[in-house]
Amino acid sequence: MSGGGDARQAIRKLAPGRLVIASHNKGKVRELTALLAPYGVEPVSAADLDLPEPVETGTTFFANAELKARSAADLSGLPSLADDSGLCVDALNGDPGVYTADWAEAPSGRDWALAMRKVEDALQAKGPGTARDAHFVCVLALAWPDGHVEWFEGRAEGSLTWPPRGTVGFGYDPVFVPHGRSETYAELDPEEKHAISHRADAFAQLVAAVF
Ligand code: IMP
Repeated sequence: MSGGGDARQAIRKLAPGRLVIASHNKGKVRELTALLAPYGVEPVSAADLDLPEPVETGTTFFANAELKARSAADLSGLPSLADDSGLCVDALNGDPGVYTADWAEAPSGRDWALAMRKVEDALQAKGPGTARDAHFVCVLALAWPDGHVEWFEGRAEGSLTWPPRGTVGFGYDPVFVPHGRSETYAELDPEEKHAISHRADAFAQLVAAVF
C-alpha cells in the first residue's frame, strides 16, 4: 500500500542527488543503502550528518516514519527517507508492533537477545499449541524540505522459531522464518532477504512511484 489513506496528489519524483537515510539503526541503513544502489542517488546517513535521533512519539508505523523523515529533511535541507518497522505476532494481538525496538531496551542499551526472549516468553505464556504466525511491517516515508511526504507500506508473512538461528542481519532476524523458506532471515544471504523482505516490499513500491 502507498499513501496515508487520504486524497492524494500525484506522487513526486525524486531527483538524483543526496538522500538522507534518516535512521541511526546500522542494519536499516545498510539494507536501504544496498536497495538504493541502482537508482543514482547518493545516500548519506543521519549519523554521518550528526542529526539527532527524534523521539518516536507516534502510535503508528506511518506516524513514526513521517516524524523521522520530516525531522531529517527539516534539519538537513535534503530529501530524507525514514523506515519505521516492527514485528507483529498474531497470538500477541500484533505486539510488539510499533514498540518492537522498545522491547529491546535494557540498562546497557538495546539487547536483541533479550527482546527475542521476551517475545518467546510471551508466546509460551499463551500455552502449548499457540500459533506462531507473525509478520514484519515496514513503512517508508520520503520527506522533502518543503514539507511534502510520500509513504509506502510493505509486509512479510512468516512464523517464529525458537531458539534463534543465524548470524546475518539485525534485530529479530534470527527468530523470523519467512513463508516459503526454512531458514530464518538471519540465515539468508542479504540478497535473498532483499528479494522477499518487508523493507524490500515497501522499497519496490517506492521505486515504482518516485524514480
Ligand atoms: P523502529 O522502526 O526504529 O521503531 O525499530 C523497529 C525495530 O524492528 C528494529 O529495531 C528491529 O529490531 C525490528 N526490525 C525491523 N525490521 C527488521 C528486520 O528486517 N529484521 C529484524 N528486525 C527488524
